[in-house]
Amino acid sequence: MCGIIGYAGHRPAVPVVVEGLRRLEYRGYDSAGVAFAGHDGLHVLRAKGKLAALEERLAGEVITTATCAMGHTRWATHGVPAERNAHPHTSNDGRLALVHNGIIENYQEIKSRLTAAGYVFHSETDTEVLVNLIAEKRKTAPSLLEAFAAALREAHGAYAVCLMDTDAPGSILAARMSAPLLFGLGTGENFVASDIPAFLPYTRQVIFLEDGEIVRATANGYEILRLADLSPVQREAQTIQWDMQAAQKGGYRHFMLKEIFEQPRVITDGLAGRLDNAGGQQACSVLLPELDDLPVPERLHIVACGTSYHSGLWGRHLLEEWAGLPVQVEIASEFRYREGLALGQKDMVLVISQSGETADTLAALRIARERGVQTLGLCNVVGSSIAREASAVIYTQAGPEISVASTKAMCSQMLMLALMALYWAQRRGSMDSQARQARLSQLESLPALLDAALPDMHATARQLARKYAQADSFFYLGRGHCFPLALEGALKLKELSYIHAEGYAAGEMKHGPIALIDPDFPTFTLALDDTLFPKVRSNIVEVQARQGKVIALSNPGMDLSVDDLWLVPPLPAPLAGFVALPALQLFSYEMADYLGKDVDQPRNLAKSVTVE
Ligand code: G6P
Repeated sequence: MCGIIGYAGHRPAVPVVVEGLRRLEYRGYDSAGVAFAGHDGLHVLRAKGKLAALEERLAGEVITTATCAMGHTRWATHGVPAERNAHPHTSNDGRLALVHNGIIENYQEIKSRLTAAGYVFHSETDTEVLVNLIAEKRKTAPSLLEAFAAALREAHGAYAVCLMDTDAPGSILAARMSAPLLFGLGTGENFVASDIPAFLPYTRQVIFLEDGEIVRATANGYEILRLADLSPVQREAQTIQWDMQAAQKGGYRHFMLKEIFEQPRVITDGLAGRLDNAGGQQACSVLLPELDDLPVPERLHIVACGTSYHSGLWGRHLLEEWAGLPVQVEIASEFRYREGLALGQKDMVLVISQSGETADTLAALRIARERGVQTLGLCNVVGSSIAREASAVIYTQAGPEISVASTKAMCSQMLMLALMALYWAQRRGSMDSQARQARLSQLESLPALLDAALPDMHATARQLARKYAQADSFFYLGRGHCFPLALEGALKLKELSYIHAEGYAAGEMKHGPIALIDPDFPTFTLALDDTLFPKVRSNIVEVQARQGKVIALSNPGMDLSVDDLWLVPPLPAPLAGFVALPALQLFSYEMADYLGKDVDQPRNLAKSVTVE
């Protein structure tokens, strides 16, 4: 949700910033802009559309030898995507430029005050209001830093901001409140950015800024200060272990395809160090030391958004079945406003988030903490807000996920949920060791099974996508552990190909949605070999009786007659979900690619949603 980068160093700054924006473009891509400090003052260049449009604009400009610059790639919150709403925004006096990720909730009120004082606004954004508020404060504040802090103290809401000043052309000021911002510590150069890949080619030394902190940086120095009183903060830099290779396409046409194909490796990495074979050949128990100091919850509330929510719905089946835990799963934007939310002191709130920054999920976590309940984060991004604020965190270790539509992150979340279910089953004694060992060896067999199956699955997905690309709508049906996968299949199809798709519990279909079925409204059914198969088959027959076409994802040997039978290798339920998931992802990928859609950056979406 908007990407920002600021640079103060010794290199030509604009190329560094534009290159950084390219790696942040997954956060938003409806417009982009840069500001850089020239010998004749601040220059701001902006363009509507993807970064390429800004690069075209920059090609026509004489870029100075500026060594300090900042940039922004936008996902619109206030005001339509247009050049006038693109960042950076400048103050009326032309001395300050600001980039911003987040929402200033009281900007209307501030805007009215500033308008009365003679300020003029050229955009609909809250950011232009904030930069003028800083300019106004500067008139009376002893320094720009004090003006910056005073303005931010008045702003309510979420922000990560970076400011440049004509009078201090080699320095940047940045701050965060409920939106991600990292400080990259280089040699003779320093960075601030929304995410690590923005500066990873230059430094692996990262300081994770906390809410309510300001950083002031030049090429050779920096200081971190508390917004409240400008007192200094001492914090060690951490070294990032992964490299840019992990954030590149590696020969695949799209990041999404690469990330789908990375799932076997994600499972191997996720299992590494998690299984204890106690000296024998076979893994017999799960190691999750992150949970060792936490009591086994009496009830688990899983809270998440989007694809992570679907992981939670899937994980519920395992946590209930294997560990015998009562589990509720809720969408974070609903959970956070539940007036009558009942949380017992022995409950635990598990928040699942790939980015660890999703605003609604973070808010849900904070509510749980305020209520004194144990919180657990399941995150991919190390050092993210959720990871830092939860009582304990389990990292999914999926590596950077660049494509906006989440794929391998869901696989990694499912894996960790399976391990959690087995771990709590161990502690509660709710599953005998033989059954546990069987589950563990199924998990261990997954990478090889998937590696072997993925090329064929890809070919089938391509063929089916071409056959069904003309459909305007799709149903996705599943029961039990396959119902969350049906929801995810439908979400992927609409996100990527803009085809209307609904995920439904197969048994609920007859209570209304079946009215939509006709020969042009196909149904994608998850009909895997499990105890609910006969029920699903009956639901398929109901669709066929209304002349609906059916694709069924199933296993060899199942008695099923449908338009397109897609057979995948069998695996006992519920772990069969690890095979069904990439099939659904590949189908949507191929559909979107065939229809010429922008697979990695679908319209209107953003990867990390840091606003409500
Ligand atoms: C956005 C992304 C989705 C993602 C959701 C939750 O909407 O486009 O792919 O599932 O946010 O993100 P999180 O980082 O919290 O898992």
